[in-house]
Amino acid sequence: MVAVAAGKQGATVAGGGRHARRKTDYKRKSEKGVEPVHDAQAEPTVGRPVTFLVTGGAGFIGSHLVDALLAAGRRVMVLDNLSVGKRDNVPEQAQLIEGDVGDEALLRRLMDEVDGCFHLAALSSTVLSHQRWLYSHRTNVGGTVTVLECARATAQRPAVPVVYASSAAVYGDNPDAPLAEQAKLQPFSAYGADKLGSELHARVAGVVHGVPTVGLRLFNVFGPRQDPHSPYSGVISHFLLRAQQGEVLSIHGDGAQVRDFVHVRDAVRFLLAAMAHAQPTGQVYNVCTGQPTAILALAHLIIHLSGKGSGLQHSAARVGDIRVSIGDPDLAAQRLGIRTTMTLREGLREMVASPAA
Ligand SMILES: NC(=O)c1ccc[n+]([C@@H]2O[C@H](COP(=O)([O-])OP(=O)(O)OC[C@H]3O[C@@H](n4cnc5c(N)ncnc54)[C@H](O)[C@@H]3O)[C@@H](O)[C@H]2O)c1
Repeated sequence: MVAVAAGKQGATVAGGGRHARRKTDYKRKSEKGVEPVHDAQAEPTVGRPVTFLVTGGAGFIGSHLVDALLAAGRRVMVLDNLSVGKRDNVPEQAQLIEGDVGDEALLRRLMDEVDGCFHLAALSSTVLSHQRWLYSHRTNVGGTVTVLECARATAQRPAVPVVYASSAAVYGDNPDAPLAEQAKLQPFSAYGADKLGSELHARVAGVVHGVPTVGLRLFNVFGPRQDPHSPYSGVISHFLLRAQQGEVLSIHGDGAQVRDFVHVRDAVRFLLAAMAHAQPTGQVYNVCTGQPTAILALAHLIIHLSGKGSGLQHSAARVGDIRVSIGDPDLAAQRLGIRTTMTLREGLREMVASPAA
């Protein structure tokens, strides 16, 4: 393993979680030859395997991405401050660097060791982005600019391609459906504004500094390891936890709000595919199914699959809750050659059967 020195802000370097490597579907998929990992560079750097940095790799989506990269035989370095992510989410085979994505000195060192960077570290909660606006902004925009700045070419190496997580939150209260990438962007949360800011900086990184990027506007991602105990976690993990305990599910408003739910393994397939298409053009793509699901219908489906007879109750509608959020998946299908494959029902069934997968 190549050693990584700690950055000025006191990063620590450690092995991953204590547990033996988890078995994942990625391994099974790659054995079947279903989803090869695309590399940013066709040939590995001489003397070491192709290596990727995953910021936020101890979190929900990041840890699934790390699994997929390892299953494909890649070397993986994870940068995470463990503010939300868990050490145990990171397999032993990955190198976990506990540090902040805004630590420029650390990022510079890490970029010298990798062939590509997946940037997922963020404070990924709209509510928190309002409660801790400046902190959230520093992480979500400052962190992205730090990644992009350090990915720039140096005298020793070319620019490092960066695939980063944007969000459907950039569309804000745009009522169009489905939302294509050229739709009007009108974020109405600090989180959405910061994701849009990240997209604009990625464009600058490409046009001015030649850094290849792809931004992925993720819609509502769900799957194992989304923390149901966090008040900021996705609606599915909350509903599932309550339904499996036979408790009442609480719905904000009438439940007619519509969302586009993407399984985390599909999200990972998009991340991997995007790395092969990183260009200095600042391109962004939706990661969505195009399939609408009303929250009320979701609650009924989860209650049905869990089989514990939970009831439903309606609470006050949340101020500013978006009514309809459905993405148009066609641009990613055309340019990245990829669509989602996992249905909501399939994903939920799997989670009910093995919640800790
Ligand atoms: N989950 C979704 O539905 C969804 C939807 C749209 C966009 N996204 C984006 O995808 C990415 C991953 O989301 P997730 O759901 O896995 O969230 P998550 O909170 O599980 O993962 C984010 C990770 O970033 C780490 N982190 C936070 N601040 C950091 C900092 N300053 N330095 C280093 N690490 C830091 C956290 O510890 C965590 O492990 C985020 O950028 C998020 O905004 C997620």
